[in-house]
Amino acid sequence: MLLSVALFVSLTTFLGCVASSTDPNPNHAADVRRPRGLAPRQNIAGVRLGSSNNTSGSGITRLVLASDQSSYYATIAAGNITFRLAVDTASSDTLIASTDCVSNACRSIPKYPLKYQSPTFVSLNGNSTTFNVSYADGTFSSGYVARESVRVANLTVPDQAFGVVNETTVSFTNEISGILGLGFPRLSQIYNTSAHGTPFFSALAQRAIVDYPIFGIYLTRNYTGTLSLGAIDSGVVNNISNIEWHDVVPFAPQGASNNVSSYLYWALQLSSISVNGTSFTPVPTYPSVTPDIGSLAILDVGTPGIYGPYNDVSNIYSLIPGSRLVDEGGQWAIPCDTLVTMSFSFGGQNFTLQPTDYMIGPASGNPNMCLTWPRASPPTPDGVDWQLGSAFLRSVYSIYDYGIDTMEPPIIGLYPLNNQTTLQQNSTFLSSYFSLNTATIATTLPNSLLSPPSYTTPPYAFNTSVVAEPGEIVSSELGTSTYSPMFGTVPTPQPTAIPTVSLTPNVITLLVTNHNSVSTSVSTAMDDQASLGVPYGWTSSGSIGRYTAPSLVTTASLFLLSFVVFSMS
Ligand SMILES: *[C@@H]1O[C@H](CO)[C@@H](O)[C@H](O)[C@H]1NC(C)=O
Ligand SMILES: *[C@@H]1O[C@H](CO)[C@@H](O)[C@H](O)[C@H]1NC(C)=O
Ligand SMILES: *[C@@H]1O[C@H](CO)[C@@H](O)[C@H](O)[C@H]1NC(C)=O
Ligand SMILES: *[C@@H]1O[C@H](CO)[C@@H](O)[C@H](O)[C@H]1NC(C)=O
Ligand SMILES: *[C@@H]1O[C@H](CO)[C@@H](O)[C@H](O)[C@H]1NC(C)=O
Ligand SMILES: *[C@@H]1O[C@H](CO)[C@@H](O)[C@H](O)[C@H]1NC(C)=O
Ligand SMILES: *[C@@H]1O[C@H](CO)[C@@H](O)[C@H](O)[C@H]1NC(C)=O
Ligand SMILES: *[C@@H]1O[C@H](CO)[C@@H](O)[C@H](O)[C@H]1NC(C)=O
Ligand SMILES: *[C@@H]1O[C@H](CO)[C@@H](O)[C@H](O)[C@H]1NC(C)=O
Ligand SMILES: *[C@@H]1O[C@H](CO)[C@@H](O)[C@H](O)[C@H]1NC(C)=O
Ligand SMILES: *[C@@H]1O[C@H](CO)[C@@H](O)[C@H](O)[C@H]1NC(C)=O
Ligand SMILES: *[C@@H]1O[C@H](CO)[C@@H](O)[C@H](O)[C@H]1NC(C)=O
Repeated sequence: MLLSVALFVSLTTFLGCVASSTDPNPNHAADVRRPRGLAPRQNIAGVRLGSSNNTSGSGITRLVLASDQSSYYATIAAGNITFRLAVDTASSDTLIASTDCVSNACRSIPKYPLKYQSPTFVSLNGNSTTFNVSYADGTFSSGYVARESVRVANLTVPDQAFGVVNETTVSFTNEISGILGLGFPRLSQIYNTSAHGTPFFSALAQRAIVDYPIFGIYLTRNYTGTLSLGAIDSGVVNNISNIEWHDVVPFAPQGASNNVSSYLYWALQLSSISVNGTSFTPVPTYPSVTPDIGSLAILDVGTPGIYGPYNDVSNIYSLIPGSRLVDEGGQWAIPCDTLVTMSFSFGGQNFTLQPTDYMIGPASGNPNMCLTWPRASPPTPDGVDWQLGSAFLRSVYSIYDYGIDTMEPPIIGLYPLNNQTTLQQNSTFLSSYFSLNTATIATTLPNSLLSPPSYTTPPYAFNTSVVAEPGEIVSSELGTSTYSPMFGTVPTPQPTAIPTVSLTPNVITLLVTNHNSVSTSVSTAMDDQASLGVPYGWTSSGSIGRYTAPSLVTTASLFLLSFVVFSMS
């Protein structure tokens, strides 16, 4: 079958693929892995970030949707070298392609220059601590673990463990060099195999570099978005009381070596799905092991689509006239003029998708039929039923609160961006939408009825004798216990004072006033200011081993998040 939905790379590390590495270290419960004895940190441009026990700030950076629509990337700095990394909430490692990588997928992307002896690069065990992270779609990234100063927005972890990728089959467009995983430490292969392998955001939260161990993600269709660290984006969230908060669902340990559960995915209970006003309760893959939880959904900004179990997905399409299964892999198509809403509820309000939110695009061979989300996916042994990627996440501002060791559980906040739970689109809108968007998928749909895919349910991966209750308080791997809890008691947590940040950088305004007409364009200055993958003032062929900073450094240029250029036409 020609359906190229393999284009939609899922970055989710499913346990089935990395079972040995995600098997938690038996020492985790007691091992907070907090770095000891850190000197006051300086960030790259010389701005003091505070001592390791003080809360010190928040940051915000732009996210950009890659042209293949499969990932949103942030521009970060590793050793003061800028890279674009795809943001992922369903994996936890920071992986950057290195100049050792000769895989096809590395061919035309900026790579971490190993020949440039970055003063902040630290080898671990003679580059012999290896990793190999496999993704749900069968791709992988492998290499060895090292440390480097990693900065996102104005927040720096000076000794961040990261994966120096030397072999990969994960391919990105738009010069994206790797992945910034924002999941829990337990999901991190590097954390599970290396000392001080704490993932980037966990390091910010365990060292109290951020005001609160929270981050927020805003995604739009028009290629932009924001990632806020330590705060939520006040440019997007106007009314904090409209945020709906949910406990994160923890997972029991794998194997018998450990008897405590802990947090793994940004997972929450999915309580109902509605299509055109008809609701049903989704059925979990392992109903007997999660009887009081029901269906489990993960929020995964690293995947563009929405995936669910065959029966639930098939239920959805049974409510859409003219829909049909077009691929044994679990893809459906519906008439492109379908005017129904699709909503997901986690026990509170309905989060509603309009037709253009869940339609992928028309099939070239059947232009009146549109491929759609969700797709059915095979059961995975981790019991994750639903994977809600950016097609869902664009409809909300999503907030990820890591929680506080011994005090506060992790919590997910969802703030609806479109407060409309009823149908907002009409057929005129839909047809002009598809004529303006080059979303056509090169495929011809089968004429005959397909039989449903035959999936076998693998044995459940976790130790069912250990209880894993949503909202449980754990002693390690979350924010450091020097934070003061902000959320009240569950089940209706309400933060008392949620930190906010907004994208109001030092904007350089270039004004060209010649005639009355002005045009504006916005660009991400971090990209524009520095060549991706090339250390400032250095060429790979040159003999300069190390770049010496000039005596006068303008910190302003580093903090620039956008230029607004006014020019006349
Ligand atoms: C850390 O916090 C303490 C108490 O809140 C304050 O006195 C001290 O100046 C702070 N240190 C830094 C480096 O910010
Ligand atoms: C931070 O650490 C210093 C000593 O290193 C200590 O005096 C101070 O009380 C600590 N502050 C907080 C807020 O824990
Ligand atoms: C980072 O920048 C934001 C504004 O973008 C500011 O509110 C925050 O205080 C800064 N944090 C640090 C640690 O400099
Ligand atoms: C580890 O990798 C770095 C970067 O390529 C290199 O400089 C260093 O020599 C390597 N160390 C060993 C022991 O191979
Ligand atoms: C990494 O794992 C994949 C399977 O998931 C395998 O195909 C690949 O060869 C492995 N790479 C290395 C370097 O071990
Ligand atoms: C990648 O690095 C690992 C660990 O240093 C090494 O064993 C392996 O041979 C390297 N692979 C490639 C393709 O360079
Ligand atoms: C992108 O979309 C957002 C929200 O829909 C809107 O606020 C913003 O102005 C748009 N940006 C551009 C450049 O069109
Ligand atoms: C959606 O529901 C309305 C009211 O129940 C019904 O009239 C309409 O035909 C339904 N639309 C579709 C496409 O099924
Ligand atoms: C969500 O939508 C369904 C179907 O339209 C409706 O029955 C239900 O009452 C809605 N829930 C809320 C909280 O509005
Ligand atoms: C969304 O709708 C509800 C109910 O109509 C209202 O209470 C709330 O203020 C609205 N939120 C926004 C952001 O408009
Ligand atoms: C369809 O929706 C658009 C806005 O999206 C509106 O301008 C137009 O009037 C609507 N057309 C009809 C026939 O309702
Ligand atoms: C970091 O890079 C910027 C340019 O991107 C440069 O101005 C600055 O001097 C560099 N800092 C260091 C410490 O190398």
